[in-house]
Amino acid sequence: MKPGTLKSPRREYCWSSGLLKAVVALAILMAGVIIGLAASSSSSSVLGSSSLSLQAEAEAAAAAANSNNVIMVAAAAAGGGGGAAANNNNNDIIIRKRKKKKAMATSATTTQLLDFRGFVDPGSGSPWGHSMSDPELFWRASMVPRAEEYPFQRVPKVAFLFLTRGPLPFAPLWERFFRGHEGLYSVYVHAVPGYTGRYRRSSPFHGRQIPSREVSWGSITLVDAEKRLLANALLDWSNQRFVLVSESCVPVFNFRTVYEYLVNSAHSYVESYNIDVPQCAGRYNPRMAPEVTEDQWRKGSEWFELSRDLAVDVVADQRYYALFRRHCTPSCYPDEHYIPTFLHLWHGARNANRTVTWVDWSRGGPHPARFGRAATTTDFVAAIRNNGTRCLYNGKPTTVCYLFARKFAPSALGTLLNLTTTILDF
Ligand SMILES: *[C@@H]1O[C@H](CO)[C@@H](O)[C@H](O)[C@H]1NC(C)=O
Ligand SMILES: *[C@@H]1O[C@H](CO)[C@@H](O)[C@H](O)[C@H]1NC(C)=O
Ligand SMILES: *[C@@H]1O[C@H](CO)[C@@H](O)[C@H](O)[C@H]1NC(C)=O
Repeated sequence: MKPGTLKSPRREYCWSSGLLKAVVALAILMAGVIIGLAASSSSSSVLGSSSLSLQAEAEAAAAAANSNNVIMVAAAAAGGGGGAAANNNNNDIIIRKRKKKKAMATSATTTQLLDFRGFVDPGSGSPWGHSMSDPELFWRASMVPRAEEYPFQRVPKVAFLFLTRGPLPFAPLWERFFRGHEGLYSVYVHAVPGYTGRYRRSSPFHGRQIPSREVSWGSITLVDAEKRLLANALLDWSNQRFVLVSESCVPVFNFRTVYEYLVNSAHSYVESYNIDVPQCAGRYNPRMAPEVTEDQWRKGSEWFELSRDLAVDVVADQRYYALFRRHCTPSCYPDEHYIPTFLHLWHGARNANRTVTWVDWSRGGPHPARFGRAATTTDFVAAIRNNGTRCLYNGKPTTVCYLFARKFAPSALGTLLNLTTTILDF
């Protein structure tokens, strides 16, 4: 702001009694928020982002206090926080504190929708949960701000989307991978409905299960689950990269390397190709024309990595989704074709067309090779990290082509945990 545009501190305010009450109410609201946050952070916030958001909130409030917006803020608080915003007594703080706790328990109250912190990162420090249907969730998640700058200090995060049946046998490995990097990642778990994983409060997996639905492998419900994971993660405005992993998937580099690689990448990593074999071109259904023509048809591994922009477009898409739902049925598998084809049509240039998740299909058959304790050696992991092949990263050749690998059997956990102190370098 130029000095000349600064408002004179002596500017006369018209202290109408209503405005005065509103300002007092705002002060009380802030006190309530601070007390509420203190309470929530002492119960160990998973993402540790409370202090960041608190700063943002304080800044927003300071900005609002400089203008007539204060009335709107107070009004919003009255509508959302429940009732007596202008009652300046101590009971109000207690009520707010209690309401805050209740809000954190149910996670889907009006308070959260109107609260800036809750808007920027719903579910931070509380179990993940909401009552939105898929269409409601996808609609909300597809919103993109027009303003270029964020009114809070935004540190880009990588969202790890765990598409699982339930148990996460490699949770201890991932916990070690994430340790010490709080604030740079977020975790979302899709499991079969009714499954509740038990994790220590300090675990990145604690309370991160999203509202899930039944998934039958090979059907469109798998795409639904992927979109549900993406959409839930998009609600956190700090999430910048979105990587889909399964319960049999493990990281083969440490967090720093993975984070830098993804956050600084000009491309997304979705495998995409079209070859003239029955399992690829042969799955194209001519009824998809003219929206998808034969030469636009693509195939790729379902284990994607997407930038925020592309993730928004995938969640927002209804047209191609409907087409795949209708015309890609066994032996066509939507999870292997929908996203690669959609990106090829609209964002080809922004895709690296390769996956960062290593897998071994060399043995043939419908399922890739699975590696247990005996196969998981230092040399094996070294070969995944660098197998002599080069790939392009931001247009330059590199030997780091894979950040994750699958499929591993639970028996490999002990060996992999041992390798974290050597080759994996967590
Ligand atoms: C990926 O494929 C698209 C075509 O879909 C192409 O335009 C793009 O250049 C490719 N990406 C890279 C990094 O080569
Ligand atoms: C490296 O991995 C890729 C992808 O799995 C494979 O195509 C290639 O043959 C491997 N190279 C060597 C030397 O093993
Ligand atoms: C891990 O390392 C410890 C200590 O070196 C060793 O006793 C143990 O057998 C190793 N576990 C596996 C599964 O390799």
